[in-house]
Amino acid sequence: MRSRTQVGIVGAGPAGLLLSHLLAQRGIDSVLVELRSREYCEARQRAGVLEDRSVALLRDAGLAARLNQQGLEHGGIYLQFDGERHHIDFRELTGGRTVTVYAQTEVVKDLIARRLADSGPEAIHFSVSGTEVADVDTDRPVLGYTDTDGIRHDVTCDAIAGCDGFHGITRMALPASMLTTWERDYPYAWLGILADVPPSTDELIYSHHSNGFALHSLRSPTVSRLYLQVDPDEDIAEWPDERIWAELSRRFELPGWTLQRGPVLDKNITPMRSFVCAPMSYGRLFLAGDAAHIVPPTGAKGLNLALADVAVLAQALDALLHGDEKLAAAYSATCLDRVWRSTHFSWWMTTMLHRTPGADAMTTQLQLSQLRYVVGSRAAATSLAENYTGFAFH
Ligand code: FAD
Ligand code: PHB
Repeated sequence: MRSRTQVGIVGAGPAGLLLSHLLAQRGIDSVLVELRSREYCEARQRAGVLEDRSVALLRDAGLAARLNQQGLEHGGIYLQFDGERHHIDFRELTGGRTVTVYAQTEVVKDLIARRLADSGPEAIHFSVSGTEVADVDTDRPVLGYTDTDGIRHDVTCDAIAGCDGFHGITRMALPASMLTTWERDYPYAWLGILADVPPSTDELIYSHHSNGFALHSLRSPTVSRLYLQVDPDEDIAEWPDERIWAELSRRFELPGWTLQRGPVLDKNITPMRSFVCAPMSYGRLFLAGDAAHIVPPTGAKGLNLALADVAVLAQALDALLHGDEKLAAAYSATCLDRVWRSTHFSWWMTTMLHRTPGADAMTTQLQLSQLRYVVGSRAAATSLAENYTGFAFH
């Protein structure tokens, strides 16, 4: 079946969903196709920290009703190492900037509900198969997919946005000869749990420990999110709840402080990778979010980068569809400035805080020296605070 739209969007993660909303606000039609079901997209446990600019973006887009009620504003983090816990005060160091803990699952639920309310059930095609993009080097690129009734669709578009994550198909449509990629795999992974227990801390704790890194985050006043560094090929079956809690207690141990335990609601293992591809566009195909770049989660940047990309892209597509190609031509360079800053920050936080398997004792001393410098120097602490809360060159 043949049809026509202005922008074809592949992937209903935060990037694709926000883009379709921002375009709709500008009166631009889109067709959004998603491999998974709505239930799957809404339940996928991922990021939890929004920079204040991401919060402002969602507020400006009229998407923050639940975020305003349920988001938990945080003015800092703790860094723990060598048996001590140190507070990094973002508000004080950056002139009032903060982050907000609001789960990616909730951002996705809000976006899906809004798109369906505004544009009806046709706004998002869930559970499609055989997604393809073609003719992206022409001004009439085509988005192909098969719907849940087995009907094949070819949608002629003015532009296509590849928002289909790291394992998606759209990046492959850029000719290999003009694409440069940079990639780093880390020799560790995160075992994450969601636990039905109030957080044991008022701010996130990033802990450097000889057994490996641990992070105490949260989802609400009654639900905690915690992570443990594990081997990349770790078998989750080897980690019964009791072992996870014992290891978390060890890595956060502090005299006079106790980690509260509770039922584990969800458990998964996430590999750690840095990846950037450039350019982020080719012809009428524009990549956004994890389709173009991945960061390890230690800096809490992945979701924020995805939202920032599509804010730039919505403007660029609006101009392009009105005959002005300048912003579209600048899209990749505009995003990559910020992408590389976040890539560096995430790499820096990751390598400072994790135990590198097989590393010598000097590596640990260098990490500890860097951590002491961060908590001891206002300049170093400010650098962490301004990157964590979101640094922009422009
Ligand atoms: P995604 O959220 O990946 O969305 C892409 C969408 O495209 C998916 O819904 C996918 O099903 C769909 N798709 C894929 N292929 C196709 C296709 N062929 N056709 C149609 N649809 C397709 N960041 C943090 O800051 N903190 C964290 O703790 C954290 N944890 C993470 C855990 C995991 C397992 C992963 C994978 C990422 C994590 N991230 C984390 C990163 C953060 O969640 C991502 O940066 C964010 O999801 C990026 O949003 P996106 O919309 O670009 O991509
Ligand atoms: C989370 O809450 O899931 C989270 C918080 C901070 C990070 C990564 C993940 O750096």
